[in-house]
Amino acid sequence: MSKGYNFNLKNKKIWVAGHNGMVGKAIVKTLRDRKLNVLTVNKSELDLTNQSKTFNWIKTNKPQAIFIAAAKVGGILTNSLNQSEFLYQNLMIQNNIIRSAAENNVQKLIFLGSSCIYPKEADQPIKEEALLCKPLEETNEGYAIAKIAGLKLCSYLYKEHNKDFITIMPTNLYGPNDNFNLTTSHVLAALINKITYAKKNNKESVEIWGTGKPKRDFLHVNDLADAVYFLAEKYSSSEPINVGSSKEVSIKELAKTIAKLAGWNGTFSFNENMPDGTMLKKLDTTKINNLGWRPKIDIKTGIKETIKEYEKTYSFSDSALVKN
Ligand SMILES: NC(=O)c1ccc[n+]([C@@H]2O[C@H](COP(=O)([O-])OP(=O)(O)OC[C@H]3O[C@@H](n4cnc5c(N)ncnc54)[C@H](OP(=O)(O)O)[C@@H]3O)[C@@H](O)[C@H]2O)c1
Repeated sequence: MSKGYNFNLKNKKIWVAGHNGMVGKAIVKTLRDRKLNVLTVNKSELDLTNQSKTFNWIKTNKPQAIFIAAAKVGGILTNSLNQSEFLYQNLMIQNNIIRSAAENNVQKLIFLGSSCIYPKEADQPIKEEALLCKPLEETNEGYAIAKIAGLKLCSYLYKEHNKDFITIMPTNLYGPNDNFNLTTSHVLAALINKITYAKKNNKESVEIWGTGKPKRDFLHVNDLADAVYFLAEKYSSSEPINVGSSKEVSIKELAKTIAKLAGWNGTFSFNENMPDGTMLKKLDTTKINNLGWRPKIDIKTGIKETIKEYEKTYSFSDSALVKN
């Protein structure tokens, strides 16, 4: 643990890689709200799968801290059908940034893992030590193997070369700028999409994949950004650290909450031919809680804001989400 450790981000040049994504945007906002010096570069100017360009960009721009929020990310369906791309692109992006950061003496680097890279049958709530203790979930194995490689690269550089490169393991996230596309989204965003669509089109029922019984832990992305900022300054270790809400909610309860907040009075049907996955998935957050961090946004407030933002951003057609 890192009691007493302090890395001051003030007056440092901080590069947020992946600043156009859900997590990247929230991190940039958190850092800029604190008047910190944030660098960004668009994918059209710097494709992070390109090793020499990534190395040269870091060498030229000299960030002193790097937050890696760039990754190829997707829900269960897209992940399971494109394992080779998830493995390859994530390995490339993270290897290029982490290695270049080490060679260019970047002082602090934050890599993001995910709760879904822990073993499928890990004991609940999941402690950091559960990593690699049992086989992985097959549906996102490619993504998980890439992320574990990134985590280990940071950990080995920390131990062998004194690089202050840490890994944070967020739980399921939701909030502004989430991906609401039904084929690539995660469960909470997919439910907001389906329920809002049902409301606008006077549909009486919405189908939910699985039994609705599995329980999950959801964290607002702004809380994650706050935790990432907090840990960048307060945490230094070769071991990863979990960030979660410390609460669980069943998919059925979640759907009912979204329906209530969206003002839709229909019913749910459960497609039990679709897999449930693990019955409970929740991160053990003792480590970050002991450092003094807790989330601030309760799930109802977070969902209410997310629905509002979603309705403002998208209009609907039968076949696709259309950005306003
Ligand atoms: N979302 C979650 O629930 C969740 C949960 C746990 C952990 N995480 C972690 O948080 C991180 C960010 O996730 P997110 O949800 O914010 O994903 P996201 O919204 O898809 O954002 C990913 C960002 O990475 C950028 N990117 C992808 N490939 C790139 C490339 N080759 N070159 C340059 N930029 C590239 C994307 O740019 P374009 O938009 O231009 O393609 C996008 O801005 C990931 O490491 C993920 O594992 C997310």
